Amino acid sequence: MNFSIIVAIDKKRGIGINNDLPWHIKKDLKHFSETTISKSDKLNAVIMGRKTWDSLPQNFRPLKNRLNVVLSRQDNLSLPEGVLHFKSLDEALNNLNDSNEIFIIGGGSLYHEAIKHSGCNKLYITHVDIDKNCDTFFPEIPEKFKKTSESEVQTEDDWKFVFTEYER
Ligand SMILES: NC(=O)c1ccc[n+]([C@@H]2O[C@H](COP(=O)([O-])OP(=O)(O)OC[C@H]3O[C@@H](n4cnc5c(N)ncnc54)[C@H](OP(=O)(O)O)[C@@H]3O)[C@@H](O)[C@H]2O)c1
Repeated sequence: MNFSIIVAIDKKRGIGINNDLPWHIKKDLKHFSETTISKSDKLNAVIMGRKTWDSLPQNFRPLKNRLNVVLSRQDNLSLPEGVLHFKSLDEALNNLNDSNEIFIIGGGSLYHEAIKHSGCNKLYITHVDIDKNCDTFFPEIPEKFKKTSESEVQTEDDWKFVFTEYER
């Protein structure tokens, strides 16, 4: 089953601090929603690590109009109705045949595993032009992924960022 990764990274590939995002950029959240929400009747799935699920504000989770999937090695995870729990990435991928598209939405440990997976064929990366002293990082982008799209430089408050896409 093929899937994409979506992430926002700083100049040092930092993605998080203290189990939270290093920034709150409205335009990037909009880009995230527009990219991950399906335009057809069939839902897209968003797969996340348990810590990323924990980090989502209560009023934002589950993420709307998407099938939310949480990975955890715990046996009993308390999740709202409709949110799926799997114990490995492959178990999740094998059970999501009915989804339209599948996105890996973080965090660091899941990105490191997913980018090496044979099903990973597209990366949506927002490059934020800052070093935020993060404690969680995105892996190096393997050479087999080539940049296929890059937006104009976007700005919001003091943030400068570009939306890019990489394909295998
Ligand atoms: N900048 C961005 O775009 C972005 C996006 C998402 C997240 N983030 C940030 O990333 C940070 C969180 O990343 P993280 O690396 O600490 O945690 P994470 O990857 O979100 O979650 C790690 C946990 O997920 C479960 N897990 C991960 N891979 C698994 C697998 N293959 N099979 C089964 N369970 C698996 C385990 O849960 P159990 O311990 O329960 O077994 C593991 O402890 C936060 O700061 C968050 O804000 C940033």
